[in-house]
Parts: sequence; structure tokens; C-alpha cells
Amino acid sequence: MEAVELADVQGFILRGYTMPVARYLGLSVREPTGAGAFLGTLVDSDPAVPSITTAQPWAAKPDYCVNLGITFTGLAALGVPRASLASFPVEYREGAVQRATSVGDVGTSAPDQWLPWLVDPTLHLLLILSAQSADALDAATKRLEQAWSASCVELGRHDGAALPGDAAHFGYRDGLSQPTIDGVPLAGLPDHLPRAPVGEFLLGYPSQFDRFSYQVPEPPELGVNGSFAAFRVLEQDVDAFAEFVAQQASATGLSEDLIEAKLCGRWRNGTPLVLSPDTDTPEPPIPPEALNDFDYTGEAADEWGYRCPIGSHIRRMNPRGQRVAGDGGHLHRIVRRGIAYGPAYDPAHSPDGQARGLLGLFIGVSLRDQFEFLMTQWANDGIFTAGLGRTNDPLIGAQGNGAGTFSIPKSGGSVVLHGLTRFVTTRGGAYCFLPSISAIRCLAALA
Ligand code: HEM
Repeated sequence: MEAVELADVQGFILRGYTMPVARYLGLSVREPTGAGAFLGTLVDSDPAVPSITTAQPWAAKPDYCVNLGITFTGLAALGVPRASLASFPVEYREGAVQRATSVGDVGTSAPDQWLPWLVDPTLHLLLILSAQSADALDAATKRLEQAWSASCVELGRHDGAALPGDAAHFGYRDGLSQPTIDGVPLAGLPDHLPRAPVGEFLLGYPSQFDRFSYQVPEPPELGVNGSFAAFRVLEQDVDAFAEFVAQQASATGLSEDLIEAKLCGRWRNGTPLVLSPDTDTPEPPIPPEALNDFDYTGEAADEWGYRCPIGSHIRRMNPRGQRVAGDGGHLHRIVRRGIAYGPAYDPAHSPDGQARGLLGLFIGVSLRDQFEFLMTQWANDGIFTAGLGRTNDPLIGAQGNGAGTFSIPKSGGSVVLHGLTRFVTTRGGAYCFLPSISAIRCLAALA
């Protein structure tokens, strides 16, 4: 396989940065020549401007990282010629607002409820900053502002800050499972699952499907080594979640901890149910590096979901070796980069009127076959595998008005939880192209 030139790839596609703070900045191009020059400064080591962080290994961890996503209207605003624009995939060209209904962004999650900057058709650039401290984040933002101020305006921004223990707002430890990508340095926990080909995450290489590569947008120097991301602002209703879990515990006699674990597929501390169905602290303990090394078939077979329910969040989002329609259990992997926003939830001071949730980037070479597939087929439909009925993902599904159910399989009959509502509401999204470093140079040269 052709080696990936790591210095040409935006870093966050291939590895997480694990930094405590992040900022997403939405910009609109007002003057294309100046905006092109601004992009040029991001890749040409202008000492005054923070550079885009690549996937090249670090000698020392930097204070901050900078990355760039471009919407389809952004490419047009930068002057990308028509023929080249037409070579981008249709779902990206249409964008997150137009594709909202298909991924379950309806009702309270519909674009008419989104943050104004994320429905602005002139949202062109998404700058993604991660930093080791709030000061480093502000300093990098300031230098970038100076660099773009003559050519772009800021439409909006959203800050995130990691919660203690790498937790997401419902209290679960997050960021454990990532695909292992063939031919690039291991960036997550090791596992024995099939490796994802690099072409599942970068344009220009053979994909996860037999004898198939995704069309590379033209010209190749614009497309190769690029990828796509769905940026999502996902608000979490922690009160409703906690209330649901408490009600179901008293209705079923199961403990709150167990119900939470069954909904997710992992205990709050990240221990996978399939490896430890009865306790989050098994003896002997599961070594940290083994927390993602499991399957639902094979040695620890859990065909009926007696350990990890078939409908749990992680089993829907990555059924691994489980039998699914189209035999595609391993073919719709996604790289997740996420950080929490809003203050930590404190049940003693609740409701506190504060918005909290997750700022997420869901990355893959095809928005249609990865992010959208997960949302439409696996999160919001139950026909891809046996045992789900017409149910939705319990954490992120688009179940309305407390009408959802969730089945906890047990030998001799399932326990069914009733009254599941939407705990996660979309507050905005953007479909972004993640250009390679050479592509950013190519865009800068258009100006
Ligand atoms: C606020 C929203 C969300 C929350 C609270 C949440 C929470 C979690 C948690 C706690 C885990 C287990 C930790 C881990 O395996 O790393 C997880 C895994 C995962 N989530 Fe989510 N998630 C959210 C949104 C999404 C969305 C929108 C998608 C897909 C588009 C998604 C896809 C996945 C995938 C693929 C995994 C890994 C499954 C595996 O490989 O076993 N999640 N999520």
C-alpha cells in the first residue's frame, strides 16, 4: 500500500489531541483574494500565524493545534471553479441543513432551531482550535483573528472544555473506541478487529469496499489526502436522562448503574459490558489497553445481547462482527473527535438553566456511507439486525415525546424500558471538507 504522507494530512483525522479546551470558529469569506492569502499563511510557516497541525508525529506536544474545515459554499466563495465543485459528493454539496431530515434532525433538532451561525448559508470556514490551556487558546485565537480580519468575518464560535475523567455529560467515559487505521501510526487503543483501510478516512486510496475507491474531487491536488467531517453541536438533557434512569430503576428493580450501562454498552467507567456484564470493577481488572478489545461474536459471543444489548449505543454505532444487513458491520467506521461544552452537571443544583452537550466531529471519507449511514440506518432505524424492532439509539436517537422503548435481553424474556425520549438535541451542524496541506496551498493559489 502507498505510504501516507503524514505531513500532508490534517492531524485530527488520524489522531486525537487530548487537549482540555477547544474552540470552533465559523467564518464567512468577504474578500476571496485576502481569504486565499489567509489560508496560505496557515500552511506556509508564517511566524505570525498559527500553522495547521498535521498528522506528523510530535517531538513535543504543542500548546495548541489548529485545523480547518471548509463548507461547500466556502469552496465556491474561495473561487474553486465550477467543474471542480461539481466533482464533490452530493451530500457535501447539499450540506447539513438540507440533509437534516434524513439524519433525524427534525422537530426540536430541526435547522429552524439551530444556532444562527450554523444555518447561515455564508458559513464558509470552520477553524478548529484545541489547546492545553484557556490562555493558549485565547492567544492562538487572537493571532488568527489578526490574520483573517481583513478578508473574513466571524459568524459565531463555540467553546468546549473537557470534563474530569474524560467523561461525556451523561457521565460515561468517552473517547475509548476509534478505528485502527492500516498503515498509519496507532492512535487509539489496540484491538483485534479488522483494520480500517486508510481509504476509509482519506481520499485517494482503496476504500473499505472491495475494489472500490471513492471519487477524488478534482483536481487531485485538491482532493487527495482530504476527508470529510460532520460537525455537530449536540445538546444533552442530563436532567431528563437522569430522571428516565431513576424511573426505570424503580419500575424494573434493576440498579440505575446497570440501566445506564445497558443503554450505552459500557459502564460509566468505560468497562465494556460484553467483557464484564455484572460489574464495572471485574476481578481480575481489565487492563486499560484492553478496554476496546472485544467483539460480539467469537470467544465472548453475545449473539442475543444478554451482556451488551443489541440496541445499546455502542453496539448500534459499531456492531463489530455481529450479523447485520449487508454484512457491513465493519464497513461504516467513523473517527470521532469530541469535547464537552457547558458546566459539569450537578444533580444538587438542577435544573440550572445551563446548556451543556458535546461538540463533535464525525470524520470519514464519505459523509453518506459513514456519518449519515450511522444516523439513518443504525441510530434511527431498527431493521438492520434482528432483535431491535422499530427502535432508535437510546442515547442519540430521534425518539419523540417519550414514546421510545429499549429492550434489555435476558434469557427467559427481555426487560423493556418504556418512555424513552430524546435526550440529545441537535443545536447545529456543518458538513466540512478537510483539505490536505497541499489542497490548502492549492486554494491559496486560486486567489
Ligand atoms: C451527545 C451525543 C453522544 C454521546 C453522549 C455519546 C456517547 C458515547 C459513549 C459514552 C461511547 C462509549 C465510549 C467509547 O467507546 O469511546 C460512545 C461510543 C461511540 N459513539 Fe457516541 N455519543 C454521542 C453521539 C454520537 C454520534 C452522533 C455518533 C455517530 C454519528 C456516535 C458514534 C459512536 C461510535 C461509533 C462509538 C464507538 C462504538 C464502538 O466502536 O464500540 N456517537 N458514544
